[in-house]
Amino acid sequence: MKQILKAADLELAVNEAKKQNLEIGLVPTMGALHEGHLSLIERALKENDLVVVSLFVNPIQFNNKEDLEKYPRTIEADLELIKNLELKIKNSCSDKLLAFTPTVDEMYPQGEPKEVYHFGPVEEVMEGPRRPGHFSGVAVVVRRLFDLAQPKRAYFGEKDYQQIAVIRALLEQIKYPIELVPCPIVRADDGLALSSRNMRLSPAARAIAPTINATLEQAAEMAEYEEVDDVKEWVLDTLASFHEVNPSLCPNGLMFEPEYFEIVDAITLQPIAEWGEAGELGAVGCIAVWLDGVRLIDIVKF
Ligand code: PAF
Repeated sequence: MKQILKAADLELAVNEAKKQNLEIGLVPTMGALHEGHLSLIERALKENDLVVVSLFVNPIQFNNKEDLEKYPRTIEADLELIKNLELKIKNSCSDKLLAFTPTVDEMYPQGEPKEVYHFGPVEEVMEGPRRPGHFSGVAVVVRRLFDLAQPKRAYFGEKDYQQIAVIRALLEQIKYPIELVPCPIVRADDGLALSSRNMRLSPAARAIAPTINATLEQAAEMAEYEEVDDVKEWVLDTLASFHEVNPSLCPNGLMFEPEYFEIVDAITLQPIAEWGEAGELGAVGCIAVWLDGVRLIDIVKF
């Protein structure tokens, strides 16, 4: 692995690779790496000649200042994890992986970017209205990374399901011939979707957090015989009343506070009222839940 701090150095390395007709894979991250990110990197290494992993906490995609401040920054540990992954998969060529770790000034030398992206219906649901400016901020940084890394393929985790739809819409808008590769969620043994935010959960909150996935899995079973609205209501009620049903597991007012649970078409992300309304790829349930001051998201495929 080679660490690169400057955009100009990344461009040089990429131009060199392009001269040799190497295929480049891009894995954009905000650092605080976990097994989920490592699975993206591992897949990208299998499918490309050169992999650029970016580790950059992008300030312009945070609509909440406190969330930005609290976002874990663990760059040294991240680089160690990448090196260990290389050892594990015996990536013999140390030049195959570039870890791009720019500062904010390096990424945005002219100051805060003025460009604003709009993606229509895919961003007008779920996260979109609740996190104003978030997806535009994601699009700005991802486009900048596309320009710098010029990838053939870009890898994104399905936990941020709506983000994938937004990146798909971005690629259509800017007409870059980049293959978008959505990758499955990686879960802890107890089912909790891995997330950099999990490290902010207290032990009691971490202990009950797998209930989110367990509830979604049960919802998938219910979908066989229940209507869409009934499944939605059941998921929201089950989580919101968890502390009443299990008071001993919820000390000091610990509780799930669901923000939304939507059942949507897997591609258009528009809510469906009947299971039959979902298109070819079926329906997906997307949830955002507050637990212990931490906002967790997860999905289930129906
Ligand atoms: O999914 C993320 O971690 C971020 O939104 C991304 C794609 C790295 C852009 O900052």
